[in-house]
Order: sequence, then C-alpha cells, then structure tokens
Amino acid sequence: MSVISMHSPRNITFGPGCTDQMIKDIIASGKKRIYILSAEPLIPKLKTQFDCLSENRIVLRINTSIQAEPAFADFERIIAEARDFMPDAVVGIGGGSVMDMAKLIAAFIGQHKPVKDYIGTDLITERKTHLICAATTSGTGSEVSPNSIIIDETENAKKGFVSPYLIPDAAYIDPVLTLGLSPLITAYTGMDALTHCIEAYANRNAHPLTDTLALQGISLISRNLITAVRDSNNLQARTSLALGSLYGGMCLGPVSTAAVHALAYPLGCDYNIPHGLSNSLLLPYVMEFNLHAAEERYASIARATGITDSLSQHDLAVKGIEFIRYLIASCNLPAYLHEAGIHNNSIEKMALAALEVKRLVKNNVRELNLEDVVSIYQQAF
Ligand SMILES: [Fe+2]
Repeated sequence: MSVISMHSPRNITFGPGCTDQMIKDIIASGKKRIYILSAEPLIPKLKTQFDCLSENRIVLRINTSIQAEPAFADFERIIAEARDFMPDAVVGIGGGSVMDMAKLIAAFIGQHKPVKDYIGTDLITERKTHLICAATTSGTGSEVSPNSIIIDETENAKKGFVSPYLIPDAAYIDPVLTLGLSPLITAYTGMDALTHCIEAYANRNAHPLTDTLALQGISLISRNLITAVRDSNNLQARTSLALGSLYGGMCLGPVSTAAVHALAYPLGCDYNIPHGLSNSLLLPYVMEFNLHAAEERYASIARATGITDSLSQHDLAVKGIEFIRYLIASCNLPAYLHEAGIHNNSIEKMALAALEVKRLVKNNVRELNLEDVVSIYQQAF
C-alpha cells in the first residue's frame, strides 16, 4: 500500500443549520475585522447571522463581486480592497468560485510578491490570516481542499494553486443554505461532486483511505441528485448531496482528479461552460476510454450507484456508465459537446490544452496521448 497524507481543516462542521455555529465560533474566536466574500443572492439569507456579528462589535466588509469563475483581474481587484480593510479573518461563503478566491486572498493578503509566481503545487508555504469557508452549493468541495483554481486571462487557461496552506482553518457545510438552488446549478454542481468521487476512486493514486469516502460520495450523489434537481427544497436530498460533495472534496487533496477535469478545463476557458457542466459532458466518454484499464473499479462504482444485477465485472462496469448517462439526461443536461455550443474545429486546440494540465492527466488510470484526447472529444461531440 502506498503512503498517503490527508490534510483537512482543523474544524469541519456539517449539518442543517450549522451556519449559526459558524457565527458562534467567529464570535468566540475574538476576531474583530472580518472580510467576507459571498454572492448577492445569499446576503438576505445571511442577514440575521451578519447582524449578530455586528452586534458583537465585529466589523464586516462584504464583497459580492464574484459572479462567475474568477480570473486574475478579479484577484487583483479584491486583494486591493482586502489589504485596505486589513481583516484578521477572511470568510468565503458561497460556491467554488467564491471559496477559491477567499482562500487565495487569505494566503496573499500579507505579502506582495506576484501571485502568478505561486501557480502550481506546494509553492504557497504560508498563510497568516485566519480562513473560514462555508459551502453553499454541493459541488466543488473547495471548503476542505488545498486547491484554488483561477482563470489566467493572458493565456486563456485555468491555473491551479495547490497547497496545504489553502485548506481553511474551519469549514462549515450547512445544507439549509443550498435549499432553493436552481435545478441547473444543482445539476452542474452535483455532477462536479460526482466526478470528484469517480475520478478519486478510479485514479492511479487511489488509496483505501479515500476509497471509502469516494464510494460513499458516489452512492449519496447518484441516489439523490435527481430528487434535488426536481424538488429544490427537499432537505433530505440536499443534505445527502452536501455530504457526498464533502466526501468528494476530502479526496481532492490526497488523490485529486484526472482526465475528466483535464479535458473539461478548455471548455470553461474557450466557451465559458460552467465547470460542472464541462465535467458532465466528458464524464461518460472518459469512463469509456478508461474502462479496460479500471474495469474492477468501474464495477464497484456501478454497485455504489445502486445497480444490484448479477453481471460480469465488465457488464457491470458498462451498466454503470449507462447509469451516468441516465443521470445526465434526467438532470436535463446536454449529452454532447455540440449541444453546448462547442465547434468541431476547436477539438485539436482543446486537446493540446487538456494535455497541458499535467497535474491531472498523470493521475488518469489509462495513459493519454494527443490522439486519444482528440478521439474522446470527438466521441463526446
Ligand atoms: Fe471539479
């Protein structure tokens, strides 16, 4: 068995209503100036909690300017405001875009070297500002992961920062905050979380420590996503998705993702396709490509989705991929790249860009060359 290290927030708090616990913990921590990154639609939901902080003489600066996957220009604008405010804690309350930005802001607020010098793995070696993340979508798992993904506008590519110092000090996952999410965002983020679990389980670096989390995440997400898409206020389904997403996020640090995410990145950069949808568009095709290299793993994934048929390992694995296609269709998501507005003549360029995401391509259970990636995109087209 290989050696694996799992870094997590010191405090992970999970459960309906746990935002109140976050507020109590902030007050108890003695922090007095809190820089909050969030999203405009969440502010009315959080009014009581923010008022409570203010009543306890905690000064808040709230920034809700992130509306899409963030780029370096967003980082420069927000870090300037955060440095001006001089907080003693940064709190990200939102989806992956908000939390990824909060993590970088907390890490860079006290130092002035160019942020781009730190793109890559383990180059960020300190963070002096307290960092709290609260997830309001069930997707990225950013609240517990060491990753922060930012779009580099000059290269039109997504760049990843990976460091244990980007793991928040505390993470809160309150399924109540995900109630009422639109069917589309629920489907996108749910497919992202499912992809994290599948890619962590069928991965060159897969490990028993994360296998259990990944399989349980697959089970929770695959059995509850359709319900949550159809009934946005179903707290039981929302809680299951939030837990599945948390499990997926816990796999991101020690194992990470693989070819689905690598091939998905160019869709986000070149066509502004949301991250979860990009993954969903490629997931069944990458699974088909990988099938022979990970048949046993894919059979276990099929069982985790609830397939109980007594089939051969191969047939079970194939049935699991069929189930993923059923899930995508049931969430009303497109099944082909052309349905998402992607042009056939972009495939070669996207394939070259995907292979550049070496930190993820190297994890794939089957080696990929340019011809393979082009072929996967063509299958998905
Ligand atoms: Fe993802």
